[in-house]
Amino acid sequence: MICYRNGEYLPRASATISVEDRGFIFGDGVYEVWRVIDGRLFEMERHLARLNFGLSELRITPPDVVRADTLLEVADRVLSQSGLSTGEASLYLEITRGAAPRTHAFPPAGTKPTVFITANKLTPPDEARARGATAITTPDIRWMRCDIKTVQLLPNVLAKQAASEKGALEAIFVRDGIVTEGSHTNLFVVLDGVLRTHPLTNLILPGISRLVVIEVAKALGLDVVERAVTKEELFAANEVFLSGTTTDVMPIVRIDDQVIGEGKPGDITTRLYRAFRAYMDEAVAAEPGAVSRGG
Ligand code: PDD
Repeated sequence: MICYRNGEYLPRASATISVEDRGFIFGDGVYEVWRVIDGRLFEMERHLARLNFGLSELRITPPDVVRADTLLEVADRVLSQSGLSTGEASLYLEITRGAAPRTHAFPPAGTKPTVFITANKLTPPDEARARGATAITTPDIRWMRCDIKTVQLLPNVLAKQAASEKGALEAIFVRDGIVTEGSHTNLFVVLDGVLRTHPLTNLILPGISRLVVIEVAKALGLDVVERAVTKEELFAANEVFLSGTTTDVMPIVRIDDQVIGEGKPGDITTRLYRAFRAYMDEAVAAEPGAVSRGG
């Protein structure tokens, strides 16, 4: 696996950063994850826009690598040298405020951000999708800026671990009786034929897959309402599903040992997954994508 670190390409196993890196010391950084199909980045620009929003909220000057053309070149090289130019993969990018002696306030001007980009093979969770997955609910103990994709993910890590220990795929955060999102996914329910999801506020990550699901749903003629779902509504829903870069559309058929709907992937979720997947395949084929740009 070849990764990119501050302008260099090197084997991931030997890539190191400073022990004074503010990502390590404070979680002072942001990240992005792109879905990659045959070397092409799905929704390249939307992920880049979210990354730039995060950098701006953290007041980190965007390094050159976040220019679309530069990012495509780097992605191309990381993917091809990692043997991931074909098939399914994910591309991970992290930018921290850089390395400096530990003090809470920002380091001196001129401290260079740390940039790390790597790729991983991805196996879409199709078996779980066919059966329908399970989830648990857990209190949303995160901070009030969940709209920033920061590397500070401890509540998400603890929530996902709790889910794993119960044999569940995802943990669903509940804040003040309201369902926000999953530990690494957004959440939708179908209630009386209407698709509902939490609105874009500081309490959720503005998921790119969430946006695509909404667009695809509207194209299918479904009613979509961006209004928060209560925990009671979650359990009363006809269908529940997750959306995310590594999850696509994932039906949830059981939550906290209670059956959702008919206990199997619902019709609307299944239709949406098919339309989502078709949209993704078409969109990546049309991307000015990485490896097979053909000169
Ligand atoms: N997670 N909500 C949270 C808290 C997330 O971390 C993610 C993505 C999403 C879905 O966003 P998107 O559709 O843009 O992937 C929602 C990534 C995949 C991760 O942390 O690995």
